Amino acid sequence: MTDTLDPLRDPRLGFIGVGAIAEATLVGLIQSGCESSIRISRRNEQRSQALTQRFANVVADPENQSIVDHSDWIFLSVLPPQAREVLSAIELRPEQRLISLVAGITLAELSTLAPGVQSIQRMIPLPPIERGVGPLPVCPPCADLESLFANCANVMGIDDESLFSVFSAASGLMAAHHFFVWKVAEWMSQQGVKPEDATAYSSHMFAALAEIECHTPADQLPGLADACTTAGGLNEQALQELREFGWFQAAQNRLDGLFDRLNNGL
Ligand SMILES: NC(=O)c1ccc[n+]([C@@H]2O[C@H](COP(=O)([O-])OP(=O)(O)OC[C@H]3O[C@@H](n4cnc5c(N)ncnc54)[C@H](OP(=O)(O)O)[C@@H]3O)[C@@H](O)[C@H]2O)c1
Repeated sequence: MTDTLDPLRDPRLGFIGVGAIAEATLVGLIQSGCESSIRISRRNEQRSQALTQRFANVVADPENQSIVDHSDWIFLSVLPPQAREVLSAIELRPEQRLISLVAGITLAELSTLAPGVQSIQRMIPLPPIERGVGPLPVCPPCADLESLFANCANVMGIDDESLFSVFSAASGLMAAHHFFVWKVAEWMSQQGVKPEDATAYSSHMFAALAEIECHTPADQLPGLADACTTAGGLNEQALQELREFGWFQAAQNRLDGLFDRLNNGL
């Protein structure tokens, strides 16, 4: 790396493990203007071939060590049980940067598994990064990573690693959210609304509400529920009944469970 690093152009990027989230991250990065040369695992032939055909700056490589040898920044994006095995079998150079996407493996353990590497970060990309949106927690905060991802995510530097797991746990509700949006649409179709109208209504309604949430200061977020509640109206009734049913408490209890699991090893 040079003193005048241009994070959008200079570092050669390597991705070990090219599954769902690595693909989303790669696509988001490249579509947001990243022209770095990117070397990815060939292991998943279908996915790696599609990416190399789609993007001129992506090449596939069957050997993890070769990806390391030809890269400056290494993104590790295999599943947690595979990560220790992969890191134990490769040798990184001290000046390389290791960025782990793997949930549940701490910075301390990564340092042990990649001895001598001076710059190690963890980050939690989410699937919407593919479309250039969504939060991207990075721990510890890193200006170079922030520059690299500035055009495809809302990078959030996290100082305290114990809090980083809180972000991981919260991301565990993505599937439940999608399922909920679909259940609302399913119910609408059961009442006779055309399925395409039902899914359009449900998904656009929740997306529009998310737009408001994203632009509301933290201290005003709790008030948003009141803002769309009319005394004696439908929203007031549903909110009260779901509260009484323990719906929100159940979600927080699930978050406690995910957090425990992250802290006790996946
Ligand atoms: N999905 C998400 O939304 C999300 C969000 C944030 C973080 N993460 C984290 O990101 C990591 C990857 O998740 P994912 O959902 O992308 O999983 P995934 O789709 O299962 O991808 C993992 C990839 O790693 C490959 N792999 C396994 N062993 C390998 C090896 N020795 N060398 C090279 N490649 C190897 C797998 O290939 P094979 O299929 O051939 O085994 C697969 O293509 C996980 O640790 C997860 O905690 C995921």
